[in-house]
Amino acid sequence: MPGTKPILVTGATGRHGGTGAHLVARLTEQGRDVRVLARSRSDRTAALEALGAEIVIGDLQDRRSTVPALDGVGLAYFTYPIDAGVVSAAANFAAAVREAGVSPRTVVMSMGPAHPKHPSERGRDQWLAEEILQWAGLDVLLLRVAAAFHENIETLHGKSIEDGVIRNCFGRGPVSWINGRDAAELAVAALLHPERFDSSICYPSGAEALSHDEIAAILTEELGKPVRYEPVTPEEWRRELVELSTTDQVVNPVMAGHITAVAQRVAEHGSTMASDTEALQRLIGRPPLTFREHLRQRIG
Ligand SMILES: NC(=O)c1ccc[n+]([C@@H]2O[C@H](COP(=O)([O-])OP(=O)(O)OC[C@H]3O[C@@H](n4cnc5c(N)ncnc54)[C@H](OP(=O)(O)O)[C@@H]3O)[C@@H](O)[C@H]2O)c1
Repeated sequence: MPGTKPILVTGATGRHGGTGAHLVARLTEQGRDVRVLARSRSDRTAALEALGAEIVIGDLQDRRSTVPALDGVGLAYFTYPIDAGVVSAAANFAAAVREAGVSPRTVVMSMGPAHPKHPSERGRDQWLAEEILQWAGLDVLLLRVAAAFHENIETLHGKSIEDGVIRNCFGRGPVSWINGRDAAELAVAALLHPERFDSSICYPSGAEALSHDEIAAILTEELGKPVRYEPVTPEEWRRELVELSTTDQVVNPVMAGHITAVAQRVAEHGSTMASDTEALQRLIGRPPLTFREHLRQRIG
């Protein structure tokens, strides 16, 4: 019975969207048996253990270490950072599922750019990773979330906001946004209430559309200091992000290439999907967070 078997959560120690950790909190509070696959022990795994999760040390780049984590699981959450290696991670996961002799329904945290022709190489890799999971015969539900996480603002612009500016190549048009917690809540629903999803490949929309000028205005009001938006070229922003990646724990050169390709596409063609607060609320069962609410929670 999937309802009584452990649920495997990958990516629960994340520092970007942090969807896995939220998922662990929501599943354990509902009394579910949760197993976390983590690469090493840390304060983050200690916090997950305190919530009641079992920690298994393993690496999605090493099939041998992933097999024991899958023992007896009924459901699984697969997520991978915006970094290199998602194709081999998915291939290892699929091979480990087959070797473990289990058939967990697997929810994948994906993104709108998961498409074979997307200008972002990371987007094309995400699509290929998902093809592999499907070719392997896994029972997958792909959440191709078609919105940017609120958390991107702090991750990508936190340092420049201290100097009162957000610089990127999204341009002045609206962008669709979703909170990382609400993306995780989509995964909770996909694991526990699959009947809410009408297809195994879903494109959940964002909660709200905001331009970067509007994001800067909200930051100005909530932080009580002026923050402005300055459009820059894709080359300029990519160079800034690659430089940031030399000192930052989350930003990496692959992310720099991905996010600038996504932003350039949005600047040229607009967001591919409009935000739909009500549709998102129907899936997650509560009103989604706005950027202003997210900011207030972060400021405390
Ligand atoms: N950011 C956005 O705007 C956005 C929008 C839509 C969709 N998404 C989707 O969100 C996904 C990322 O989710 P997220 O933000 O929750 O992730 P995240 O916070 O970046 O966390 C990534 C997790 O993956 C783990 N990990 C990395 N390499 C691993 C490996 N080889 N084996 C096992 N675990 C490994 C990390 O562990 P360590 O702690 O050991 O590093 C970490 O726990 C993306 O793939 C994208 O599809 C993002």
